[in-house]
Amino acid sequence: MYSHQLQTSILISQCLILGSLLVANGDYLIGVGSYDMTGPAAGVNMMGYANMEQVTGGIHFRLRARAFIVAESKQGPRIAFVNLDAGMASQLVTIKVLERLKSRYGDLYNEDNVAISGTHTHAAPGGYLQYVTYSVTSLGFVPQSFDALLTAIELSIAQAHDNLKPGSIFINSGDLENAGINRSPSAYLFNPPEERAKYARNVDTQMTLLKFVDKNSGKSIGAFSWFATHGTSMSRDNKLISGDNKGAAARFFEDWFMSSNNNISTSRYTRLKPLSGALLRKASRITATGGESCPKADIQSSKVRQNNESRFIGTFCQSNVGDVSPNVLGAFCLDSGKPCDFNHSSCHGNDQLCVGRGPGYPDEILSTKIIGERQFQKAVDLFTSAEDEITGKIDYRLTYLNFTDIDVLLDGNQVVKTCPAALGPGFAAGTTDGPGVFGFQQGDTEINEFWKTVRDAIQEPSQHQVECQKPKTVLLDTGEMFWPYAWAPAILPIQILRLGKLVILSVPGEFTTMAGRRLREAVKETLITYGNGEFNNNTHVVIAGLTNTYSQYVATFEEYKQQRYEAASTLYGPHTLSAYIQEFKKLAQALARGDKNVARGPSPPDLSSVQLSLLADPSGDSPPPGVKFGDTKNDVKNGPFKARDRVNATFWSANPRYDLLTEGTFSVVEILQGTKWISAYDDDDFCLFFEWDGPFYNDDVSYGLATIEWEVPEDALAGVYRLRHFGSFKTTKDSPISYFTGASGGFTVIKG
Ligand SMILES: *[C@@H]1O[C@H](CO)[C@@H](O)[C@H](O)[C@H]1NC(C)=O
Ligand SMILES: *[C@@H]1O[C@H](CO)[C@@H](O)[C@H](O)[C@H]1NC(C)=O
Ligand SMILES: *[C@@H]1O[C@H](CO)[C@@H](O)[C@H](O)[C@H]1NC(C)=O
Ligand SMILES: *[C@@H]1O[C@H](CO)[C@@H](O)[C@H](O)[C@H]1NC(C)=O
Ligand SMILES: *[C@@H]1O[C@H](CO)[C@@H](O)[C@H](O)[C@H]1NC(C)=O
Ligand SMILES: *[C@@H]1O[C@H](CO)[C@@H](O)[C@H](O)[C@H]1NC(C)=O
Repeated sequence: MYSHQLQTSILISQCLILGSLLVANGDYLIGVGSYDMTGPAAGVNMMGYANMEQVTGGIHFRLRARAFIVAESKQGPRIAFVNLDAGMASQLVTIKVLERLKSRYGDLYNEDNVAISGTHTHAAPGGYLQYVTYSVTSLGFVPQSFDALLTAIELSIAQAHDNLKPGSIFINSGDLENAGINRSPSAYLFNPPEERAKYARNVDTQMTLLKFVDKNSGKSIGAFSWFATHGTSMSRDNKLISGDNKGAAARFFEDWFMSSNNNISTSRYTRLKPLSGALLRKASRITATGGESCPKADIQSSKVRQNNESRFIGTFCQSNVGDVSPNVLGAFCLDSGKPCDFNHSSCHGNDQLCVGRGPGYPDEILSTKIIGERQFQKAVDLFTSAEDEITGKIDYRLTYLNFTDIDVLLDGNQVVKTCPAALGPGFAAGTTDGPGVFGFQQGDTEINEFWKTVRDAIQEPSQHQVECQKPKTVLLDTGEMFWPYAWAPAILPIQILRLGKLVILSVPGEFTTMAGRRLREAVKETLITYGNGEFNNNTHVVIAGLTNTYSQYVATFEEYKQQRYEAASTLYGPHTLSAYIQEFKKLAQALARGDKNVARGPSPPDLSSVQLSLLADPSGDSPPPGVKFGDTKNDVKNGPFKARDRVNATFWSANPRYDLLTEGTFSVVEILQGTKWISAYDDDDFCLFFEWDGPFYNDDVSYGLATIEWEVPEDALAGVYRLRHFGSFKTTKDSPISYFTGASGGFTVIKG
C-alpha cells in the first residue's frame, strides 16, 4: 500500500519534472489578446492623409489592438508585441501604456520588452500623437482617440498575460507578389546599380509569419505576420473607419480560422429552419420597430464575435513600407488617363491630378478587400505549412537617441551629422496615394519666394539647418519649432526583440524598401559576427515599422538626392539612415554578446500637460419633434434580395461619440429563427456599413442620421432578415447617458 503510494508520487513528480523540462527545452509560455480600439466614429479627423476634411463619419469595420506575449518561463525573459489598426504608434501612447503596465505588473512589462506597432491604416481616428505636426489637421489632441487606444493596448496585453500557457512557435516566410508596388520608382533608381542588382524587385515581397500553438490542445491560438504595403487602399476622401487592407486581412484570417476549425459558417446563426413560402410572404409584413430604450448589455450581447479567451488572433503587421503602395495598377492622370510624369508624379505640373489605382479601381472598398485577401491567402499558406519550430533565447535591447545631432562615422572615416527635423517641398506634394497641396511636386528641391516668406513667418531655419538638410530645401522647419509645443520629435527609441531565430527591429518610422534592406542586412551581419554561433544565415530579421513612436520617413542617402515625398519627409537629413544603421549595429552587438549595459540615452518628453484640444465634444442631442432615436427615417425597400444586392435603412440617431460602444456594435443584421431574431452580422463584418451623417440642427436640437447598409454576401443564408441600429445619447453635456435601439422592417434573402 505504502510502496504503491510512493510509486504513484514518484510517477507524479517525474511527470511534473518532465513537464517543466519541456517548457525549458524549446517550449515557451505564450498568450494572445485582442481588444476593440475603434474610437470616435463622428467628426474626428483621420490620421494619415493630413486632409482636414477627412473626418470620421461611420464605421466600415472595427479596429482592434492585437497582442502576443512570449516568455521563456514564468519568471524568465519575455516580450510583448502589440499591433494596432492605427496610423502609427505614438510616443505619448507608449509612455502612458507603460505607466499602466507598471501599475498592473510592476517591472514585468517595460519599455525594453514591449513593442507597440501601427498597421498604418489611413482610415482611423487621429489626434493621439503629441507633436504638433501630427495634430494640426485634427485641431490638436483628441482625448477620446487617445483613451480608446490606451485602453485597447492595455487590455489586449492583460488578456495575453492572463492567457499565458505552454506552447510552441513556428516560423515561415514566403513571397507575396502583387500586394504592393514602388510609388517612387525614380528615387529607387538612384540607389547604386550593383546594390539594386541583388534584388529582383523594387519592393520587398517577403512575408514572415509566426504561428502560435497551444501545447495542451494542439490548436493554434494565433498568428502574426510582417509584410510591407501601405494602408492606403482607402482614399483620402473616405469617411468610414477602416483597418484598411491589413485590418481586412486580419478579419478574413480570424473568420477563416473560426469557420475551418469550428464549422462556424453554417452554425453561425444556430441551426437554420428551411424557409417556407409562408414565411417569405410574412416577412414583407414585418414592420419596423420604433426606437426604444434598451440596456447597454443588449448591445454587447448582440455582437456576433464575442471577445473571449478562446478567440484565435490573426494579425498583419507593417514593415519597411516607406515607398510601397497597395495601389498596384499604378498612378494615372485624372484628366488624360495617361501615366503621370515619372520623376515628379504630376500631370503637366499638377500634383493633384496624379492618383494611384488599386486593383478594384474605381471601387476602393474592393481594392481594400483584394489587397487584404492577397495578404490573408499568403498568411494561410504560410500558416498551414509552418514547420520550422522556434527554439532558443528571448532577449531585447532598447536605447533612446537624440536624432538632432548624431555623429555618424561613414566608410572612409568621414564623420557627418544628422540634423534637427525638417520637411521639404516634396512633403507638401503628398504621394500618388494621396496628393497634397497644389503647387508642389515630388522631387522639388526649390521653393518659391512666396512660400519662403510664409516659411520664414512661421520659422526661419537656422543657417546650420539649411546647410545640414541639403539637398533638401527646408519648407517646414519642424525641428526648430517649439510653439506652442514641439512640432517634431528629437528623441527616438530603437529596439531589438529576439525570439530564438527571429529578430524584430522596432523602427519609429517608415523605412523605404532599400533603407529597410540595408538595415536588416547590417544587423544580421553584426549578429552573426558577434553572436558566437547563436546567429547564422537562417536568422530571420524583420522590420516592425511605425513602432513605439513616429518620426515619418527614412530614405537612403541616394534616394534623398531626388527629394520625392519619402526623402522630403526624412526628418533628420541625408544621413538619417546611416545613423540608424550605426546605432542599430551597436544594439545588435550588445544583444549578440549578451551585454546588458546599453546606454539608455535621453528619455523622450511627456507632453501631455501642454496639449491643446480645439475639437469640441458633442454636448447634447435630441430627436426632432415627433420622432424617437432609433425610429426609421427611410425603411428598407421591398425584397427579395440576393447575393451582392445592397439593402439599407436610415435611422434617426445621436452622435456616436457619447458612447463608442467599444466591444459592442452600432449596426446588426438579424435573421429570424422561429420567433427570435438572431445576430448574423455586425460592425466587424466587411459586408456591413454603418454610415453616420450629422450633426443636423432643428432650432437648437442636434441629431444625426445613421444609415445601415448591407451588401448581401455570397454565403448568406436564405431567410428573413432585418437591420438593427444601436446608439446612445445625452440630452445635455451633463445629463445621464441613455441607450436606444430600433429595427427596420423584415425582408427576405433568397439564393440565386
Ligand atoms: C459542418 O456543419 C454542417 C452542417 O451542420 C455539416 O453537414 C458538416 O458535416 C460539418 N462539417 C464539419 C467538417 O464538421
Ligand atoms: C468564444 O468565442 C468563440 C467565437 O466567437 C465562440 O465560438 C465560443 O463559443 C466563445 N466561448 C465562450 C466561452 O463564450
Ligand atoms: C528622371 O530624372 C533622371 C535624373 O534625375 C533623368 O536621368 C531621367 O531622364 C528623368 N526621366 C524622365 C522620364 O524624365
Ligand atoms: C537634442 O539635442 C539638441 C542638440 O544637442 C539639444 O539642443 C536638444 O535639447 C536635445 N533635445 C532633447 C529633447 O533633449
Ligand atoms: C543566405 O540566405 C539567403 C536566402 O535566405 C541566400 O540567398 C544566401 O545565398 C545565403 N547565404 C549564405 C552565405 O549561405
Ligand atoms: C438606400 O437604398 C435606396 C434604395 O435602393 C437608394 O436609393 C439609396 O441611395 C440608398 N441610400 C444609401 C445611403 O446608400
